Amino acid sequence: MTLLAVDNLTVSFPTADGTVQAVRGLSFSVEAGKTLGVVGESGSGKSVSALTMLGLNPGADITGSAVFNGKELLTMNQQQLRQIRGADIAMIFQDPLSSLHPHFRVGWQIAEAIRAHTSVNKRDAKTQAVELLRLVNIPQPERRVEAYPHEMSGGMRQRVMIAMALALKPKLLIADEPTTALDATVQAQLMELLVQMQNEVGMAMIIITHDLGVIASVADEVLVMYAGRASERADARTTFFSPHHPYTRGLLGSVPSATGVVGSRLTPIIGSPPSLISVPTGCGFHPRCPFAMEMCIDDQPDLVEIPAGGHHVSACWLPPEMTGVGVAMDTARQRYASAHRGVRSSKLPGVVAAVEGATVYA
Ligand SMILES: Nc1ncnc2c1ncn2[C@@H]1O[C@H](COP(=O)(O)OP(=O)(O)OP(=O)(O)O)[C@@H](O)[C@H]1O
Ligand code: SF4
Ligand SMILES: [Mg+2]
Repeated sequence: MTLLAVDNLTVSFPTADGTVQAVRGLSFSVEAGKTLGVVGESGSGKSVSALTMLGLNPGADITGSAVFNGKELLTMNQQQLRQIRGADIAMIFQDPLSSLHPHFRVGWQIAEAIRAHTSVNKRDAKTQAVELLRLVNIPQPERRVEAYPHEMSGGMRQRVMIAMALALKPKLLIADEPTTALDATVQAQLMELLVQMQNEVGMAMIIITHDLGVIASVADEVLVMYAGRASERADARTTFFSPHHPYTRGLLGSVPSATGVVGSRLTPIIGSPPSLISVPTGCGFHPRCPFAMEMCIDDQPDLVEIPAGGHHVSACWLPPEMTGVGVAMDTARQRYASAHRGVRSSKLPGVVAAVEGATVYA
């Protein structure tokens, strides 16, 4: 059953420098009980998309639709959204220190979150807070419930945020970079905890991250975003082993081989994400793409179905059968791109770097 269906979402912010086109026609859905991983570099519109659905982007110009559990979120007033936030959709933010109030004990904050949506009395809410802290594996929860956020480690605070998000057994949990600030071991523990909680509560999850490695073991589906758009969407296995879009391929190339995903070289995508005030013409990735062709400069590719993998779509002018991460496929991509290149595309930074052998793609 589809729990959340986002259709053609656009979000822009008028600023003194021009209009920031943060999200540009994004569509995706999340099935009940399943996990969607949303991946993309900094500034690709991941957080803005999530915040927009929850009505947390005041001042933004928004069009499109986001239907949650049969109800349109984008036309709800603040009171209706408050009912949904926390109770039906919970969100864990990147930085728990900015979401937890520094002057209140963590137990009190969890209890208040419970009391905001239910008629539980103070004492019972506190008991529930202790149980939630126990559930997220915080040692000595009876004592920790009295702690202030600054008295806890980063990993502990993130567990408190998870406990608070789970307090009302939401149908959907959105975790925005839930583990970025933490070391690798704690990251892995927290991802494991989220999956365990998902099994207990039966909720769906959207996990937002810039690191494909983080969601390798937990996502059912992966949505790759670039410059406010979906560049590719597929089940996790297809994303990791048979990606079509060169940007996904590039992100995989940047994953250390310790994840066992691809070869042994670390290959950063050259250049940086574009300004969202003046987004490149055609395919937004074209200045950085090692396979850019003339048509990529002029025409924006739509998401089209990639026949080999079920539910696999990609927005790229390369032929749909060109999927995979191996050297042979990269060579085939390069050959196809060379045959469709002209004067302008030959001078693009990504193409020049590939020709000089600065990326794995050559
Ligand atoms: N209130 C705002 N006003 C103007 N621009 C904004 C606003 N909020 C976000 N943006 C811009 O929208 C773009 C997308 O931002 P967003 O926070 O969604 O990126 P992100 O993919 O979550 O990146 P990160 O990985 O760094 O968290 C960025 O260019 C950002 O600067
Ligand atoms: S080949 Fe063209 S369309 Fe595909 S990602 Fe590269 S620049 Fe974009
Ligand atoms: Mg973000």
